[in-house]
Amino acid sequence: MATQDELKQQVAKAAAEYVKGGIIGVGTGSTANFFIDELAKVKSKIDGAVASSEATAQRLRNHGINVLDLNNVGPGEMQIYVDGADEITEHFHMLKGGGGALTREKVVAAVAEKFICICDASKLVPVLGKFPLPVEVLPMARSQVARELVKMGGQPRLRDFTTDNGNVILDVHGLNILDPVAMEAQINQIVGVVTNGLFAARPADVLLLGTADGVKTYTR
Ligand code: 5RP
Repeated sequence: MATQDELKQQVAKAAAEYVKGGIIGVGTGSTANFFIDELAKVKSKIDGAVASSEATAQRLRNHGINVLDLNNVGPGEMQIYVDGADEITEHFHMLKGGGGALTREKVVAAVAEKFICICDASKLVPVLGKFPLPVEVLPMARSQVARELVKMGGQPRLRDFTTDNGNVILDVHGLNILDPVAMEAQINQIVGVVTNGLFAARPADVLLLGTADGVKTYTR
């Protein structure tokens, strides 16, 4: 039986088949790292990549892949954004940010034409929220935001981590996220929140799921 890492490698390989040229948006995390290694094999086809974190930028550069500034990418120039997720539902709503890169991931994904989510089968869930929801917060606002998150029924815990943007992360436990689109908007309304890890307003377009029976492709 394939290990979790082997499943991640398989979906990374499958995602590389979507690389036809142009500029590629690249996510963050162990699954995204496998994708970067696959992207390196076809790097002559592309003009460059936009990274969703400093760690991803470093790995891309180590492979000799040109890392581009998102500000220089025009509408329609980035065909695909490829990234993992901590949880995903059959509606393609995702919970992300386990690696702490949620804000840049959401920004890069917003520019891409198509979001390709690559996951092993353990990430497919009926309801989001078993994995604690990461919320990136301005450091000065962390106590106030935490109080607001408690009012919503969550139990926020401060992660011992500073984001690439110089902010902190509250991991919110105990949320049963039945309406991810509404909750994404509601948390973003709290003053001091930079982004939350719900990717529901802009869900994935394609899910490549690594299973014991091979890679399954789902399209929204
Ligand atoms: C990082 C993320 C990752 O996509 C998510 O944590 C999944 O990571 P992995 O591929 O290591 O399981 O959102 O901020």
